[in-house]
Amino acid sequence: MTTTDAVTPDWVRTRKGEHPPLTLLPAYDATFARLLDRAGIDLILVGDSLGQMVQGHETTLQVTVDDIVYHTKAVARVVERALVVGDMPFLSFQISVEDALRNAGRIIKEGGARAVKIEGGTEFAPTVAAMTRAGIPVISHVGVQPQSVLLSGQFRGSKGRALGEAVKILADAKSVAEAGAFALVVEAVPRELGKKLTESIPIPTLGIGAGPDCDGQVLVTHDLLGLFTQFKPKFVKRYANLAAIIETALADFLKDIDKGAFPDDTTSYHLKDEGLIQAIAELE
Ligand code: KIV
Repeated sequence: MTTTDAVTPDWVRTRKGEHPPLTLLPAYDATFARLLDRAGIDLILVGDSLGQMVQGHETTLQVTVDDIVYHTKAVARVVERALVVGDMPFLSFQISVEDALRNAGRIIKEGGARAVKIEGGTEFAPTVAAMTRAGIPVISHVGVQPQSVLLSGQFRGSKGRALGEAVKILADAKSVAEAGAFALVVEAVPRELGKKLTESIPIPTLGIGAGPDCDGQVLVTHDLLGLFTQFKPKFVKRYANLAAIIETALADFLKDIDKGAFPDDTTSYHLKDEGLIQAIAELE
């Protein structure tokens, strides 16, 4: 059963193994946040994917805590039901546990998020534990980790296709769950591993390219809507082609301007008082 009440981390936990699966999509501004919330998306992530989707960077590495705070404010201001989750950007939690707490605190206190997400497994379990102890709900993120692009050289593609990698990802999932994460994003792993992870940990798995057996499903909103067309990962399904719709609308606007068809009388303000009309016409 789903809920019309505001989504909480505890409610998310209760969705383990339940139908319908949980849903998580990113939003970076109030307009998209309203649309996602009204549609019934359970978790809205102010993702560091804003580096690519909004800022025009090739990776997520340039995104700052200030950026996440700014965009989280816009999202949190309008969301009524979904759980707003702030993504912790590159080097906002990797340097020290103190730094992680301070930055997560900013995303929650200033931004208005009610949970944060961090990339990484076993090596960041102590950070997850410290944040949870401090009262900050945490979602962990394993599999492909875009913030590790400089080490892995991996912009795209999948992880966990070799046994050694699968073993490491399973160990990662278990340690962050044990450390107190309330959900786990699993990115770009074979569906067989997505299923194994889902069966092996007590918290919901939220898969993005991790197959149909996860407890929830994630896509980048701009991919799902066909707004981001530079490339399309294998796991993306486009439910609309908004880029083409926008391009057609803009071409039509330009044609109207060229023809003088816009604005017309119906889209203009009018004066009703004849005296005033006359007076304005006669202004020097
Ligand atoms: O930044 C983001 O949008 C994400 C999702 C893809 C999970 O991390």
